[in-house]
Amino acid sequence: MSPKKTITASMFVLFAAFASLAVGSQKTDSMQVRHGRLQVPEKVKTVLVHEMKTISTLMGDLLQYIVQGDSAKVSATAIEIRNTNLKQEFDAKEIKKILAILPKGFIELDRKFHMTANEVAKAVETNDFKIAINLYSEMTQGCLNCHTAYASERFKNLSN
Ligand code: HEC
Repeated sequence: MSPKKTITASMFVLFAAFASLAVGSQKTDSMQVRHGRLQVPEKVKTVLVHEMKTISTLMGDLLQYIVQGDSAKVSATAIEIRNTNLKQEFDAKEIKKILAILPKGFIELDRKFHMTANEVAKAVETNDFKIAINLYSEMTQGCLNCHTAYASERFKNLSN
């Protein structure tokens, strides 16, 4: 039924839980984003791409559970997306360094994405699937926004 499955979703994003650590340590975006490419060490990029793939898969699952009204699975999957972050791969010290080189705008988009995942879990506590699907749509817009701003060198047809 749903062609949305193909567009779906997902992503990755990681740094939300640590965003607060970065306050005061960011440089300006122009220093870190050249030609729509996120300037981060190769190891960070590798982890980021891995997380993206994980979240893409989870977003596909999430859509299926929302449209089937499966509150328990929506909640578990949304929380899994929310919790997908660099903590699994880097220690606190490394995370601090990574946050210091990430653009503020990237961290903000990432944070918003994770917060929205959390709101999906909240919405289904009261079986509010209409709200859940709207939030899901917001999450997918988050993919496009971030790729347009920070990955247009990789995804050539996306540009500001
Ligand atoms: C906060 C920023 C951000 C958000 C939000 C985001 N992405 Fe990404 N994503 C990136 C960046 C940056 C890259 C490019 C990495 C690179 O240069 O290879 C990327 C790469 C990818 C890739 C390519 C992975 C590979 O195999 O190399 C996929 C797939 C992807 N994103 C899916 C998504 C989906 C789906 C969403 C939304 C549900 C999403 N992303 C949300 C920043 C983001």
